Amino acid sequence: MKLKTVDDTRAFGRRLAGLLRPGDLVLLTGPLGAGKTALAQGIGAGLGVEGPITSPTFVIARVHRGPVPLVHADAYRLGDRPDPRAEIDDLDLDASADDAVTVVEWGVGLVEQLNDEYLQVRLDRLDDDTRIVELSPHGGDWAHRLESM
Ligand SMILES: Nc1ncnc2c1ncn2[C@@H]1O[C@H](COP(=O)(O)OP(=O)(O)OP(=O)(O)O)[C@@H](O)[C@H]1O
Ligand SMILES: [Mg+2]
Repeated sequence: MKLKTVDDTRAFGRRLAGLLRPGDLVLLTGPLGAGKTALAQGIGAGLGVEGPITSPTFVIARVHRGPVPLVHADAYRLGDRPDPRAEIDDLDLDASADDAVTVVEWGVGLVEQLNDEYLQVRLDRLDDDTRIVELSPHGGDWAHRLESM
């Protein structure tokens, strides 16, 4: 699906939030500036959590309170650590993951260990500066849940 503006990306995130329930893991992938944080903002708005959702520069993960809390993590800075998997474990994301929706930017190859069922959302930037979004279900009932999107 094509997302012409940042507002379209946020609106897509709000729609996606309608599918989400506590315990879900969503991986946001795509290059720098693709719109991963913008999508996370839409998801947060859809879940009705407290904001603002920003790029976590100094923290790797932040919990946003709400009816269903949102754990928003950015694994980008973990990429150059000697043992990124251990650092992900140290964050204890799985301790909060049962009651929350966990959204991780740049998490591929790192956070699948948290949950073998997850939704992958890939964003790509086209030459005309619009974005393309692609959803890939991994395990669980994700494929079925995506039918309503
Ligand atoms: N259709 C679009 N969807 C999302 N962002 C867009 C779109 N068009 C333009 N933008 C701009 O692209 C930028 C996307 O930034 P954002 O921080 O969401 O990307 P990111 O993928 O999280 O980057 P990073 O890899 O640094 O975490 C914003 O400045 C936004 O305004
Ligand atoms: Mg980001």
